[in-house]
Amino acid sequence: MTGADKFQKIVAWAKRKGFIYPSSEIYGGIGGVYDFGPYGVELLRNIKNLWWGRFVSGRDDVVGIDSSVLMNRKVWQASGHEKGFSDPLVECKKCHQRFRADIVDEVIARASSGEEKSDWENFSEEEKAILRCPKGDKHELTQAKQFNLMFKTSVGSTENSDSYTYFRPETAQGMFVNFKNVLETSRQKLPFGIAQIGKCFRNEITTGEYLFRVREFEIAEIEYFVKPGKDEEWFEYWLKEWKQFLLDLGISEKNLVEHEHPKSELSHYSKRTVDYNYKFPFGEKELTGLANRTDFDLKSHAKASGKDLQYFDQETGKKIYPYVVEPTLGIGRLVLALICESYEEIKGGRSKAETETEKEVIMHFNSKIAPVKIAVFPLTKKLKSSAKTIYRNLKKEFGFVEYDETGSVGRRYRRQDEIGTPYCITYDFDSENDKKVTVRNRDTMKQDRIKIAELKKYFGDKF
Ligand code: GAP
Repeated sequence: MTGADKFQKIVAWAKRKGFIYPSSEIYGGIGGVYDFGPYGVELLRNIKNLWWGRFVSGRDDVVGIDSSVLMNRKVWQASGHEKGFSDPLVECKKCHQRFRADIVDEVIARASSGEEKSDWENFSEEEKAILRCPKGDKHELTQAKQFNLMFKTSVGSTENSDSYTYFRPETAQGMFVNFKNVLETSRQKLPFGIAQIGKCFRNEITTGEYLFRVREFEIAEIEYFVKPGKDEEWFEYWLKEWKQFLLDLGISEKNLVEHEHPKSELSHYSKRTVDYNYKFPFGEKELTGLANRTDFDLKSHAKASGKDLQYFDQETGKKIYPYVVEPTLGIGRLVLALICESYEEIKGGRSKAETETEKEVIMHFNSKIAPVKIAVFPLTKKLKSSAKTIYRNLKKEFGFVEYDETGSVGRRYRRQDEIGTPYCITYDFDSENDKKVTVRNRDTMKQDRIKIAELKKYFGDKF
C-alpha cells in the first residue's frame, strides 16, 4: 500500500466512523476547514486534557489563560504579523489557480527527481494539481508575491480603515499582552510559563493535506519566561519535555525527526527554532516546534503600547525583559499523526471468528487517548440486563463506555477495534454463576476472566 493509498483510506475511515467531517459538507464544503464528529471530539479532548494536565495543572511554574481570538489591531502591528506574516504566492496565468511558491518548488523537485514516473500515486491530489494545468500541460506561473495569511475582519457597526482587525493566527500574542496582568495576579517568579489552547486562523494559500494544513485550527502553546542567559538551557529542557509528551501519547520514535532551522530561515523573532517533524504517509512534515523568541515580543509591545512590560528581578534589584522559550503544537496535526500512527489494516481479519469480511481495521490508540475506553457486550440479548448494569457502573467510573448487543461478538469486537476501543467485556452464561466476565485486549487479543466486582481495580489508572 503506497503512502497516498493509506492516506486516502484514513480520510475515508475518519468520515465513516464519525471522527472527522468536511465542514459545511451539505453545501459542498469550505476549503481547509473540518469538523470533529462524536468520536473525533473525544480524541481531541483527551489529547488536550493530557496536555493541560501535564504542562499546566501538573506543574507549579506554569499558569493557564484563555485569551480572546479578536484583539486590538495594534497587537498585530507590534508583533510584526501585519507586515510579515505572509507566504509567497504564485498564480498560473492560464488557469488562475494559486499556489504557495515554496510548495510548488518542492513538488516540482520531487517530480523531476523521477518520482512522478515511478510512482505517480505518491502525489496527493493537491500536488498533482501543481504538476498539471487543466488549460494544457504545465502551469505558466507568475513571479512570487507575498500574501498575508491573516483573516481580516471588521469590529463594530461601522466599517472603515480604523475598525478592522484580524482573527488571531497564533495564541502567543494573547499571552504576551497579558504578561503584566498574569505577573501581578499569579505571584509567579522567573522562570515561569503562561499556557493556553485556542483556535487560530490562517488563510493558507494551499490546503489539501487534510488536517495537516487547514485554515482554522487549535494551537496549544507555552510562553516560558526565563532570565536572559538562561534561555539556551531552558530550550534544551523543553525540547526533551516536548518530545516525551509526543512519545507518551503514542507517536513512535522512528517516525519523529528533529529538524533544526538553519539561521537563514529563522522567523523574525527567533534566535533558534527546532521542529519535530512527523513521517506522515504523504511525506515528512512539521508536527510541532520550539522557538527561542528572545525578548522580541515583550520589547515590541512595550515600545508600541508605552506600557512597562519589564520584570523586576529581586535578586539583582534590576528591571529586565525576560527571554521566552516557546514550545508550540497544532492539536489537529497531532490528532492526524496519532491517527496515522494507530491505523492498521489486516486483510482477512485477525482470528477465525473475524474472517467474515475481507479486511479489518484496527486503531491502536493509546488507551489514554482512545475515544471509547471500554465496550460491554452481553453474549446474547437474554443477558442484557446484567450486562447493562456493568456498563452503567463502568460509565460512571470511566466516562466513555459503550454498550453493544447487535450482531455476533466477533462483529462487535471488529466495530470497537475500528474506533480503537482498548478493552471489550463480554457477559456470558457462565457469568451468571461465577460472577466473572471476559475482558479482551484490543492489541494482544488476550482474554482475561475477571471478577465483576474487581473490574474497576483491573482497569485502575489505564485511562
Ligand atoms: N506561536 C508560534 C506559532 O504559531 P507556528 O509554527 O506558525 O508557530 C504552531 O504554528 C503550530 O501550529 C505548528 O507547529 C503546527 O503544528 C500548527 N500549524 C501551523 N499552521 C497550521 C495549519 N495551517 N494547519 C494546521 N496546523 C497548523
